[in-house]
Amino acid sequence: MKTLPPLCNSLPAWRALQDHYRDQIQTLDLRQAFAADGDRLQALSQQAPHVFADLSKNLWTGQTEALLRDLAVQSGVQAQRDAMLAGDSVNCTEQRAAMHWLLRMPRDGGQLRHCATVQQWQPAMHQALAEVHVTLDAMLALAERVRADDAITDIVNIGIGGSHLGPEVVVNALEDWVDAGKNFHFVSNVDGHELGHVLRRVRPASTLFLIASKSFTTAETMLNARSARQWFLEEGGSEDARAACSIDRHFVALTTNVQAAAEFGIGRTLGFWDWVGGRFSLWSAIGLPVAIAIGQARFRELLSGAHAMDAHFFMAGMQANLPLRLGLLDVWYRDFCGFSSRCIAPYSHGLRRLTAYLQQLEMESNGKGVTRDGQSLPVRTAPVIWGEPGTNGQHAFFQMLHQGQDVIPVEFIALRDGGKYLGAHHQSLVVNAIAQAQALMEGRHGEGAERHCAGNRPSSFLLLQQLDPASLGALIALYEHRVFTAGAVWGINSFDQWGVELGKHLARQLHARQDSGDWQGVDASTTALMRRLMDADGG
Ligand code: F6P
Repeated sequence: MKTLPPLCNSLPAWRALQDHYRDQIQTLDLRQAFAADGDRLQALSQQAPHVFADLSKNLWTGQTEALLRDLAVQSGVQAQRDAMLAGDSVNCTEQRAAMHWLLRMPRDGGQLRHCATVQQWQPAMHQALAEVHVTLDAMLALAERVRADDAITDIVNIGIGGSHLGPEVVVNALEDWVDAGKNFHFVSNVDGHELGHVLRRVRPASTLFLIASKSFTTAETMLNARSARQWFLEEGGSEDARAACSIDRHFVALTTNVQAAAEFGIGRTLGFWDWVGGRFSLWSAIGLPVAIAIGQARFRELLSGAHAMDAHFFMAGMQANLPLRLGLLDVWYRDFCGFSSRCIAPYSHGLRRLTAYLQQLEMESNGKGVTRDGQSLPVRTAPVIWGEPGTNGQHAFFQMLHQGQDVIPVEFIALRDGGKYLGAHHQSLVVNAIAQAQALMEGRHGEGAERHCAGNRPSSFLLLQQLDPASLGALIALYEHRVFTAGAVWGINSFDQWGVELGKHLARQLHARQDSGDWQGVDASTTALMRRLMDADGG
């Protein structure tokens, strides 16, 4: 009988943290904490590559962090981190490695080349790194050819989940760096309105379709791809590779499933590996729309920023390891403070799609209830991630953050340099972010019940110099490793997503029953809804 590792809540540090919360933190008042400890800001903030983090307005102390580090040690977080860096099959339910960090590692190992784990790599890892660069060079060469092709005016990326959210957030965020002189469209929903909206605005001869799907089986993407191909042929395109306006010239597949792409009729495929998780894949061929948008040099800057954060995560000591500190903070808030959600408030129009990206990254990675070994987890894991850019959120849900009965940690993300709009707009934007963090902590008292804000509401403040490729790469890598850290403490596999299979399976069954009319054994509600959908009068 295999000895299973202890569940996180059976570790001595877990009990110590429960006692610490009861004795020290339940009554912690941030305003008093700052007054009592002149070193609080210094101790609870740090500079990491491209990202400054002020964590001092969180409901914790240096002692909290010390106990959380004990929990990390007892949970074997560093050993799990090093196993990922060694290329072990940390995605144990799919028997795969998780090596998204390899996609941004320089040929010579970069800042990690002297790391002991890398020094002891098996030959297969060096081979994998070499293959990464062959594929990267090919992708960037293709991107440069597309950028130089004035006949192509529109790029349509068809993909969903990690094959959509990553490229979308980066192309949007790097708007000031996009110089391709082309229009970028992201189609993900199977709702035909999305694809139709785009097809009404493009022409076959001037459009490049990127069919982005790691599996090349996802129903939504395959239906959108078939419809796009049908439109392309109906509008004058040709299946003949010799034709000027052919499928071959105007479709590229981005996938690990090269055979399926060929069977679909696409001749040009950029591949990647099964050890790249979908929600971690923007650094791979899935990032082609990004490379077309910003060019090879800036795509390499995006990779270098992420690599700098990788080196920080894999090598920095626990006390000054920002991804690790944030991952431990997530466990602290979820399991000891009992906060069930986290609000992401990027004070940047460019980061308007970041929350959607982080929802998949955090909730698909850690929204689980069993450990890697199949043990039921008696603790809470991923929080609900939600939010909208500031200052918009101040006119939507900040009322609840200030006066609601639930304490919801807020994560502010802001930029020192607003780029083109540095002036009054940017000053107003960042001052608002800082004021909101201050208001959440200070509260408002003595001006009548209706104006009362309890205050003592926690927030983290992440500050980037500017929204450039390297800073964005570092920020995204920071979140990837933060999610990994929390999952490692909980003992879950942050790299699979079995929970999404059931819905897909039932949808296929309902389609089949639609055709057969056999509703035997289907619950009354589902049957009635399907009949309402199918009946002419909808009754
Ligand atoms: O949501 C399930 C999922 O498998 C995600 O993990 C993935 O990013 C998405 O669907 C799309 O998968 P694919 O890239 O294989 O089409």
